[in-house]
Amino acid sequence: MNNKVEMRNTGDATMAGTTTPDLEIPYESCLIEGIPDPCMIVIVGASGDLTARKIIPALFNLFLNDGLPDPFLVVGCARTKMSNQEFRDKMKNALLTAGILDDQKWQDFSKSLYYQAIDYVESPSFKALAGSLRKLDIKNGTGGNRIFYLAIPPSLYKSTAHMLGEVGLSVEDENGNGWVRIVVEKPFGRDLDSAIDLDRSLHEHFREHQIFRIDHYLAKETVQNILMFRFANAIFEPIWNRRYIDHVSITAAETLGVEHRAGYYEQAGVLRDMFQNHMMQLLALTAMDPPSVFEADRVRDEKVKVYRTMRPFPTDDLQGYLVLGQYGAGTIDGKKVPAYRDEPGINPDSLTPTFARMKVFLDNWRWQGVPFYLTSGKRLAKKITEIIIQFKEVPHSMFREILGEHITANRLIMGIYPDEKISLTFQTKNPGARVCLRSVTMDFHYHQNYNGPILDAYEKVLLDCMLGDHMLFWRQDGVELCWSFLTPILKECETCGDRAKLLLPYKSGTSGPEVAKNMMK
Ligand code: BG6
Repeated sequence: MNNKVEMRNTGDATMAGTTTPDLEIPYESCLIEGIPDPCMIVIVGASGDLTARKIIPALFNLFLNDGLPDPFLVVGCARTKMSNQEFRDKMKNALLTAGILDDQKWQDFSKSLYYQAIDYVESPSFKALAGSLRKLDIKNGTGGNRIFYLAIPPSLYKSTAHMLGEVGLSVEDENGNGWVRIVVEKPFGRDLDSAIDLDRSLHEHFREHQIFRIDHYLAKETVQNILMFRFANAIFEPIWNRRYIDHVSITAAETLGVEHRAGYYEQAGVLRDMFQNHMMQLLALTAMDPPSVFEADRVRDEKVKVYRTMRPFPTDDLQGYLVLGQYGAGTIDGKKVPAYRDEPGINPDSLTPTFARMKVFLDNWRWQGVPFYLTSGKRLAKKITEIIIQFKEVPHSMFREILGEHITANRLIMGIYPDEKISLTFQTKNPGARVCLRSVTMDFHYHQNYNGPILDAYEKVLLDCMLGDHMLFWRQDGVELCWSFLTPILKECETCGDRAKLLLPYKSGTSGPEVAKNMMK
């Protein structure tokens, strides 16, 4: 059993062998990176779930933390007919549901909310939108700076981007007075060809610097911390390679099922929903080399180099590298939950995977021969997101006569959820007369000595988009390289004669198909 050793924050001041006591970290200077230009965010698909659950709560929180520019406007658009007041009431309700409604602040915030019904395939409708935006700009002084946030089903991305372009809404002012950005949520296509096609459509009217491809995992504090931890400390980098690391395990396990997203999930499955994006980003952050400067394109260059080194799966031995599963009925947190195939809207014969574990190798000097196990699944026992760096055992044990040949190897865990922490496990002597070892864990909890507010992932991406910072967004070359790796795997899984055999059932509330455990032995 591990004994916990709490790590102390010693601050910067270590003088003459003494350490300062725990310090409170001043957070104000780290909270907001500067106030963006006055602007408006046009949410296309504003009557939907994403707007109510994520976008509006994130904007309201930014407003509460003085993170929004002034003036700032939100213009909601969707097919549903609504007045400004009805839209405001709906958004007020969303904040109430999110538990963050502050009546007084809402009075001010709500004044910046507008709504206009549109038809996604009607050009006149977009012309009318362009007219309204122009009037709002002039009346409120938002300077023509606009973000179009596509909170719509992916099947509408291409046509909407086209409509926006056709009525001139993608055009930026040549003199720099008035920028235009477009935000696209994943999935960016459903395979390599469709990703290229989507990109081509976006580029018909928008230029690369205008396009922001969101991956909310990148904006999680603990995910951003991976690069700080690796490259702002001198002691980890020399051992971060095949000489010292036995394997790496990256897990994003969920207790939730498919929820109300049957239509989307049946087409996507876990490989498109979680691997093509979030898991690939976690892999890149863990495996990449340090760029010479912390700049969006230099960081993204290094990630892309990781994707280039991914060894293609041998499609004739898929099972050696990939385990797919689908949840059956079971119990989670004491509640009975139905099988995937019994969820509303799901085909009763569905062969969509809800769990995957894959073994990935990176063919380069740093990582040759080190397996990276990527695991994600729905309806598992616990919601947990973490990266485990499993080090090798000591090369020779001088204690072998007393303690046997094996000594538990060091392990570093970067906890992303629910424990936002870094913990390092190592061996120490157990107190007492006999020579015994014990594993102890040194823990750093992310919130230790920090009492300030934390920007949630959507707040961070919205803010960065307003600031024009691409650091936490996908670049198209990365998207395409990940699809190049996954598309042959998906093709094989979805077209091979043994399709049903590849998909192993697992009981909800467990850790996935039993066979998946063997892969890591
Ligand atoms: C989304 C997926 O991108 O990420 C969902 O579409 C998944 O299926 C979610 O549940 C997980 O995100 P988080 O932040 O809860 O780990």
